[in-house]
Amino acid sequence: MAPIKESDDHDSEFFKPADAFFSAYGHLGLTYDDVTLATCYSEVLPGDTQLETTLAEGLTLNIPMISSDMDTVTEARMAIAMALNGGLGLIHYNMSEADQLAEVSSVKNNVHGLIQNPAKVTADQVIGDVLHLIEKKRFGFSTFPVVDGRGKLLGLLSGHVVKPRYAKRKVAEALTPRSQVHALSKKELGGDPIARADRFFTDHPGIHKLLVVDEEDRLQGLFTMSDIERINQERNAQFKPARDASFRLICGAAVSATRNAFGELDRKRILTHAEGLVERGVDVIAVSTAHGHSKGVGDSVRMLREAFPRLPIIAGNVTSAAGVEYLAACGANAIKVGQGPGSICTTRIVAGVGIPQLTALYVASRAAKKDRVTIIADGGITKSGDMVKALTLAHAVICGGIFAGCPEAPGEVMEIGGKPYKQYRGMGSIAAMKAGSAARYGHAPDPGRKVAPEGVDALKEVTNSLDRVIAQLIGGIQSGMGYLGAANLSQLRDNARFIRVSPAGQREGEPHDVVELKTGN
Ligand code: XMP
Repeated sequence: MAPIKESDDHDSEFFKPADAFFSAYGHLGLTYDDVTLATCYSEVLPGDTQLETTLAEGLTLNIPMISSDMDTVTEARMAIAMALNGGLGLIHYNMSEADQLAEVSSVKNNVHGLIQNPAKVTADQVIGDVLHLIEKKRFGFSTFPVVDGRGKLLGLLSGHVVKPRYAKRKVAEALTPRSQVHALSKKELGGDPIARADRFFTDHPGIHKLLVVDEEDRLQGLFTMSDIERINQERNAQFKPARDASFRLICGAAVSATRNAFGELDRKRILTHAEGLVERGVDVIAVSTAHGHSKGVGDSVRMLREAFPRLPIIAGNVTSAAGVEYLAACGANAIKVGQGPGSICTTRIVAGVGIPQLTALYVASRAAKKDRVTIIADGGITKSGDMVKALTLAHAVICGGIFAGCPEAPGEVMEIGGKPYKQYRGMGSIAAMKAGSAARYGHAPDPGRKVAPEGVDALKEVTNSLDRVIAQLIGGIQSGMGYLGAANLSQLRDNARFIRVSPAGQREGEPHDVVELKTGN
């Protein structure tokens, strides 16, 4: 472990380790911006730091980031991108159980680089329909596979003929017929589909799309040359994708403590659903509710633990040591901490309840250490510096808002005043509860009944791709670790020393007295 020089008594008088610091502030709830971390003697270069974290036996992430189980944040596309970056996506439950199973399957069956459900056209359409589709969906490409009603490949419609001058022509007349189109079967892709596709593009100059079919020649997906080239560049990345023992991407799914018409826990429904998730290869189930220190959540966790003794279980949310102890005793491995810190949360305003996040994390972390479970900081993270502070106490972070503007998040882009936005809403907002999440907040699913929303319906500006957002965040975490002389996250937790910042101290820490051209984070 990197040496910490604490010879200077002056330092230890001002910069305190977690126990001493938070005990001294027992009368005050603190959150990320209320504190800053002191630097330590370091022999660690940021780029050499390791971000691996183990949340439970059988659940290790290569970066400590999880995308939130919210209906405007995590479906299969986000979960795939999170796992490819080394993290984890938790598929939300504001959809039918069958749909959630399908989302999990889509992550677990993802072949990296293979576009599994490519845009396609049918032979009876006219080119004008295809042009309309491109405009409506804002596609940046104009070559499409052509399929029949059963998904069987009929040919390829090349971008060369998708022009207004041919608008009235039928796709059937303009397509390149199946006999002249290259396609591989899924089996032919072998153990390393990227290498196989790469070889294909080298062997076929001028061809930029490789179609993949099943035994009955039905379209299963396609590779594009530009994707393969990008993936090959990324293969040398420091943080590898998070995969299971069978080399499939990892995926989590959230469930709620669902109740039946009599208000009792619907044990059969929860168990049947969990069985379906496990059958599809889910790596972790998260019992996600606003109040985890409650009988319904505890009973659900206990039931799942009995049914699946080795399955990693996340449960929450809590903000007390007693809450952590309770869920740990019920069988949870990792416990979500956070009530009201989220960017779309109104729990503290509506219910008058919740603990500022850093104090909640400290209290929870001490119980977690005793009970040998891990904690996950859920909500309120707006910058990489918050992540560094969270990771001095927690084993991972869950983020919603930071990822909600990425193209990988569900939802359409809308333009307001010339700027692109995506919807981001609290799972306790009226709209989300109507769509199914009421149980998370302890309300009946009946949308006609009066409920008190605990979240808002909001917008996020569209951001870069998740890869780029995560690259920035990782860079920040690694810088923080370098300053603290921490080569890994365990050393970060050991080395952290805190000091409270004054409002003026906080202003000093942000760009000031300049005209800012571009924000860094
Ligand atoms: P961020 O700050 O990352 O927070 O946007 C995401 C987390 O907020 C929680 N969440 C809610 N909390 N009312 C709440 O009080 C809500 O409607 C709501 N929806 C989500 C959740 O823990 C999520 O991960």
